Amino acid sequence: MSVINIDSAKQNVEKIGFLDVEVDATLDLFHEIERLKKEKNAIILAHYYQEPDIQDVADYIGDSLGLAQAAEKTDADIIVFAGVHFMAETAKILNPKKKVLLPDLKAGCSLADSAPADAFREFRNQHPDHVVISYINCTAEIKAQSDIIVTSSNAALVVNSVPKDQPIIFAPDKNLGAYLIKKTGRDMLLWNGACMVHEIFSLEKITKLKIRHPKAKILAHPECEEPILHIADYIGSTTGILKYSREDSATEYIVATETGILHQMQKDSPHKTFIPAPPTNNCACNDCPHMKLNTLEKLYLCMEYETPEILMEEELRKAAKKPIDRMLEISRAGGL
Ligand code: 13P
Ligand code: SF4
Repeated sequence: MSVINIDSAKQNVEKIGFLDVEVDATLDLFHEIERLKKEKNAIILAHYYQEPDIQDVADYIGDSLGLAQAAEKTDADIIVFAGVHFMAETAKILNPKKKVLLPDLKAGCSLADSAPADAFREFRNQHPDHVVISYINCTAEIKAQSDIIVTSSNAALVVNSVPKDQPIIFAPDKNLGAYLIKKTGRDMLLWNGACMVHEIFSLEKITKLKIRHPKAKILAHPECEEPILHIADYIGSTTGILKYSREDSATEYIVATETGILHQMQKDSPHKTFIPAPPTNNCACNDCPHMKLNTLEKLYLCMEYETPEILMEEELRKAAKKPIDRMLEISRAGGL
């Protein structure tokens, strides 16, 4: 139940993750958010998996690499991050002096959760000669234990930048890791993590869908399992998938990633048909429950009251920044 008093709502944020305050239903939230952006010199960075209304008020929408690069170069005083916790945390790591807001602190990530810091430290200690490459979908504690961070759009470039005789640990996504082993020919030691959304696609249902839509191309995110990637016409990050669907000549696509991306695909190519790849159960499991915790109301409230805010210990931040900086350098040098 929403509370009226903002002070008690602020006290409750740590427990429930967001400001539980009743928003006047007559407010034009799009207008209010634009006003707050100007008044506070705030920028909204949003991931493609956010709900359409949030994407429509964002100043920048992108994949994880694009969002980190946008966070690195912004001169706004406040970064409002419409995405999940590890993304906002990355923005804070790159911008210690700026205020970084996240509409709902509980917007986590099953992949990041699959690598607890202590267990990972033990794993890493068992393989001290390995370089640790971690997918950006991990906590600051894992980043601090890593040598280089990657996203799905620069992972192959980064893996290939490591000398051939150097053993590598790749964490936390075993599906992206297996895809990279195939793509780069590097035999990496994989941490056993996965994304709950990308693991749920049904090969059988996609195959049946393809029979009904023989001309449809299958677009997949590399967090999907191998059998799905095996039948895909294109594999890439969300930005890669979007670009491919814009530039390719086909008119029908089956999209094996979180459904939020369909909003931009449809906007970019209104004459094309985009079909979300079906999950195994009759559920909406191809919607990320973490990403979808953010709503336009929570976004407005966090801008108005400047909370919830991402805070981090300086020592951890500095340690987590090093491998992110390496990723950004390698990406720049590689033209990304
Ligand atoms: P990208 O947008 O970088 O492809 O990542 C997808 C994802 O799962 C983010 O959580
Ligand atoms: Fe994490 Fe998967 Fe959600 Fe992306 S889609 S935020 S990897 S749980």
